[in-house]
Amino acid sequence: MDRNLAMEVVRVTEMAAISSARLMGRGTKNESDQAAVDAMRKAFDALNIDGTVVIGEGERDEAPMLYIGEKVGKHGAHDPAVDIALDPLEGTNLCAFGKPGAISVVAIAQRGNLLNAPDTYMEKLAVGPKAAGVIDLRKSWTENLKAIAKKRQLDVSDLTVICLDRDRHVELIKEVRAAGARIRLIDDGDVAAGIATCFEETGVDVLMGTGGAPEGVITAAALRCVGGDMQGRLKPRNQEEIERAKKMGVTDINRIYTAEELAQGEVMFAATGVTTGDFLKGVRFFGGGCETHSVVMRSKTGTVRYITSHHKFDKKPGYAF
Ligand code: FBP
Repeated sequence: MDRNLAMEVVRVTEMAAISSARLMGRGTKNESDQAAVDAMRKAFDALNIDGTVVIGEGERDEAPMLYIGEKVGKHGAHDPAVDIALDPLEGTNLCAFGKPGAISVVAIAQRGNLLNAPDTYMEKLAVGPKAAGVIDLRKSWTENLKAIAKKRQLDVSDLTVICLDRDRHVELIKEVRAAGARIRLIDDGDVAAGIATCFEETGVDVLMGTGGAPEGVITAAALRCVGGDMQGRLKPRNQEEIERAKKMGVTDINRIYTAEELAQGEVMFAATGVTTGDFLKGVRFFGGGCETHSVVMRSKTGTVRYITSHHKFDKKPGYAF
């Protein structure tokens, strides 16, 4: 994949972030999401790729745009054939209520290299580069915390675990507290939470717990770019979700996937902040324009670029900012 593609992809997350950020705090998560989807879909038209959405807004019959299987990009004869995992607005409620951590994300890989994850849950364990190689979902949370602390030459009490604040995590939270680690509970947004483990300034060391499976693939793609480590195991809620997973090619529902198995080969990742979070600032509007903050990363080089962009709305025809 041409390295410049990564810089093109950030335009897509920028447009989605601006459109949804305009509606921040209105309490209308579906409208913010729709605004992000519309803008992202439009921005993809300008990219020189032969793209297929593999992680998107849902199945074709439930999502009119950016659905799984949808073709995006210009599809020129020489354009690279890529698979795309996207979430135009990750953290719809965070945006709807002006809470921290909403982002717009896109991950790109060569065709066939992203797990076609069904729309179910996934148990996730993710850490930054300094703790790579020691996590194991077959072991208890406590054993994992001890292994991570040992690798990092820290005490378990020095570690901060980030976890979605959900009833299903009562036992997990109890165990982490008993092990002595600190906990940060978040309302939503476990993609940003997973990525935060790779950036020391966030103060977040480990992501633990169950969130969306599609979000797991996006997180893995990001972690692959910065040398983080992750494991994920599908957690379907019912037989229907198991059947759906089988239809999408999953043969062993209990399989533990590594980051490399979730997002293989060369991967590019771009995210733009919608609301201010751990590692990205949110969109700031001023008369006739706005400022966005994004991160762009590539697995091939491990380069992490932060991009601050100033946008002038009168020069972006076709976007309803
Ligand atoms: P949305 O952006 O689709 O609202 O998802 C937010 C999110 O918190 C994800 O980050 C997470 O993986 C998932 O929802 C968790 O699902 P649930 O809210 O059902 O626990």
